[in-house]
Amino acid sequence: MARYAHITGWGMAIPERILTNFDLEKMVETSNEWIVSRTGISERRIADDSESSASLAVQAALKALEVANVHPLDVDLIIVATSSPEHIFPATACIVQDQIGAKRAGAFDLLAACSGFIFALDQASSAIRSGSVNTVLVIGAETLSRFVDWADRNTCILFGDGAGAFVLQASEEPGGVLSAVMRSDGSGAELLTLAAGGSKLPASLTTVQNGQHYIRMNGREVFRFATRVMTQSTLEVIQKANLSLQDIQYIIPHQANQRIIETAAKNLNLPPEKIISNIQRYGNTSTASIPIATCEAIQEGKLKAGDRVVFVAFGGGLTWGAALVQWSGPLPAKKRVYPRRYRWFARLRSRLLRLWRRLEGLLWGKQAG
Ligand code: COA
Repeated sequence: MARYAHITGWGMAIPERILTNFDLEKMVETSNEWIVSRTGISERRIADDSESSASLAVQAALKALEVANVHPLDVDLIIVATSSPEHIFPATACIVQDQIGAKRAGAFDLLAACSGFIFALDQASSAIRSGSVNTVLVIGAETLSRFVDWADRNTCILFGDGAGAFVLQASEEPGGVLSAVMRSDGSGAELLTLAAGGSKLPASLTTVQNGQHYIRMNGREVFRFATRVMTQSTLEVIQKANLSLQDIQYIIPHQANQRIIETAAKNLNLPPEKIISNIQRYGNTSTASIPIATCEAIQEGKLKAGDRVVFVAFGGGLTWGAALVQWSGPLPAKKRVYPRRYRWFARLRSRLLRLWRRLEGLLWGKQAG
């Protein structure tokens, strides 16, 4: 029997703090008019000290589970696509797994910069179709504000924080993720980087003094690359599913720059109402931009069961890709579950496990040594 991977739940989480273009005017030599005309961005959200990529990811994941009516114990796999993880390791996905109490789930992070959510969606749907898992949480979560050089006007105007999540579930009903493409070109690696803090350039006084722990970007080159691959991969993913552009109701592109989105729409000869954009309010939230835009499109009544939608993204690496989805909505369920209420139990479980590990160490640690 054929298996399909349906998107059955969605959720988003954004910090409350808003940073407007007028605030940025006081920080760097720029203007609201310049930012709006060159990028389409008016404001972005910035995480406060109590928030992180994992905390935003947890909020988005719990909302998505609630929409899908899926209990955390039924999640088989958690993939967090992020370029601003909590740590180099452990994976942010493991922190999410612990905090939502997804006891049975494998968890890992995926790094493909702003294309990460598409890559994660492809991996999740392939795992479901192969029969290896039934239920996957795919999350895009970022606090890129922590890696932005607030004195660099080329980059600090662009990025914002947030998270978005999808629940994918197996079903024999045709639909869900119909096709996907993932591409990369490492010869463009230096066009968008966060150079230090890895094994090549470990953190040192010099890397800090040289500003190598900040995002650096060649905006013009990235712009040229983006407009080319957005069009290319949209057409490719549609062709792969044996469909044509006329069969597609919506395109939900990575929200990096309104001009990139409009150029792609023009190249594809698509009317603006088919293209979802909310970049004005959030800026570029990297891996989170597509699920956040999807959540808002649903709130606005734009995406309905049966609609075909193309998600398309590009990012550092260079990476790019697209996924074509026949939209489904939650699967029919016998009883209601409450993932958010389960959180207190997840917290308790986590504390007990930590305590148990310490006790074990005290009781048997010496023997093992
Ligand atoms: N405010 C005012 N002026 C600015 C500015 C700012 N925030 N940032 C750059 N400028 C200046 C430049 O210094 C340059 O001045 P000059 O002509 O005197 O040298 C001028 O504006 C034009 O710069 P340019 O880089 O050509 O602008 P642009 O129209 O390409 O817009 C970006 C810059 C970054 C907005 C645009 O290139 C872009 O969005 N690129 C893609 C980036 C992206 O999507 N990254 C994420 C990938 S996931």
